[in-house]
Amino acid sequence: MTDGLRMPPELMRELAGYVTEILVERCQRLPGEPAWDGEFAQELAARLMEAPPEGGRAPREVIDRAVRDVLLPTMRHDHPRAFGFVPSAPTWPGVLADYLVTGFNINAATWLSASGPSQLEAVVIDWFRGWLGYPKTAGGVLTSGGSVAALDAFVAAREAAGNPARATVYMSDQGHSAQIRSARIIGIRPDRVRVLPTGADFRLAVDTLASAVEADRDAGCTPVAVCADAGSTSTGAVDPLDAIADFCEAHGIWLHVDAAYGGFAAITEPGASLLRGIERADSIGIDPHKWFFQPYDTGCLLVRDARMLERAFAIHHDVLQDSVWGANHPNQADRGLQLSRRDRALKIWMSVQVFGMAAFRDAVRQGIELAERAAGYVADSSVLELMTPASLGILCFRVNPGEGADDERSLHRLNRKVLARVFWEDRAFISSTLLRRQFALRMCVINHTTTWDDVRETLETIERFGREAL
Ligand SMILES: Cc1ncc(COP(=O)(O)O)c(C=O)c1O
Repeated sequence: MTDGLRMPPELMRELAGYVTEILVERCQRLPGEPAWDGEFAQELAARLMEAPPEGGRAPREVIDRAVRDVLLPTMRHDHPRAFGFVPSAPTWPGVLADYLVTGFNINAATWLSASGPSQLEAVVIDWFRGWLGYPKTAGGVLTSGGSVAALDAFVAAREAAGNPARATVYMSDQGHSAQIRSARIIGIRPDRVRVLPTGADFRLAVDTLASAVEADRDAGCTPVAVCADAGSTSTGAVDPLDAIADFCEAHGIWLHVDAAYGGFAAITEPGASLLRGIERADSIGIDPHKWFFQPYDTGCLLVRDARMLERAFAIHHDVLQDSVWGANHPNQADRGLQLSRRDRALKIWMSVQVFGMAAFRDAVRQGIELAERAAGYVADSSVLELMTPASLGILCFRVNPGEGADDERSLHRLNRKVLARVFWEDRAFISSTLLRRQFALRMCVINHTTTWDDVRETLETIERFGREAL
């Protein structure tokens, strides 16, 4: 049946068809199933922890086992009621593109190894550049996600600043932990990563930033990067990008905007106006695997002056000398951390080709509008309290009926109880956050398959659990 590590064409087709059937059925069944499934480590270890078999097993049995024991005990981030963290709902052409890319075994490191994919990466990066209002000098690289985008950006920023010994990096207390980690990885000492307090609106005020920078300069440190949020993960807040860009420009500090989840709002009118000023950043991190409906893992770093990336990352190796084809043939590996890298452009390109931009714009706009409608529902509810206004598809709220449960400790307990009931009893999945140490339920409504009924019924369930928990 199999021959060494090869399979005959009939078996290849049969297994691919089998997998396709599993995936299409999953899509059809998904809305009726819970958005989360999982299993305890002990149980999964008992099922999976074993020595590799010496002889091969029947492929269908292996696939069935993989589905049952590996793929099913997971969160369904693409479920229409998956509202926790930052959901991701890839389109089918995106999934197929990943299959094609893997089947063609693309290594998108250099032009020599992958000229078509390298050109296509330039195409999709040019689309992003245009949507974000960047000039023609901009360029970038597709990454595994927002973390690596920030990592690459900080390296470029540090190099641009001349690699100072006592480098400092700035972000707000709403900045994603991924940015702190990226700063640490590139060698910024933890005590020189400045996490600055935000105001009542969870945005970083320029005055706060200015005081921190001044104090550091006085102490002999060199600020190398400011990281502003264009859609913070807790509340969807957008920092005052124009004002921060003014400050960074005046003080010669690299401005990185973390638009990992919120950036694709730029393709809609309301989103573009909220993100105004983003085009002034030195670099932008933006994740197609969040609000551009692509399979994991697909992130992107854009840099206003693409040469800054190559200055930081292009390092010669003799064994790669044949890959240097001149300035007209950029090597994407010269723009970031990875040398061997999968093609991530095809899924973006294929799904846009198949559906068209109007459908993508509608899908993003729908997320913004559903979150606003949800915020209206919460504001009108006698049981719920809106804690932050809807912003870029996110709203924060809590159960607060104001009936003897209005001190912080009991509200915290009450909302934890409600969250646990949603988790164990409802089809929906929501997550929580802390807003100035206040426990908040949080919904991120950015799945293109989510309907108002999905949102409303989830909020009704939360209201009911809230009443019953009193
Ligand atoms: C605003 C923001 N930045 C960065 C990240 C980290 O991105 P990734 O998980 O793709 O590395 C996230 C993840 O949710 C995010 O929401």
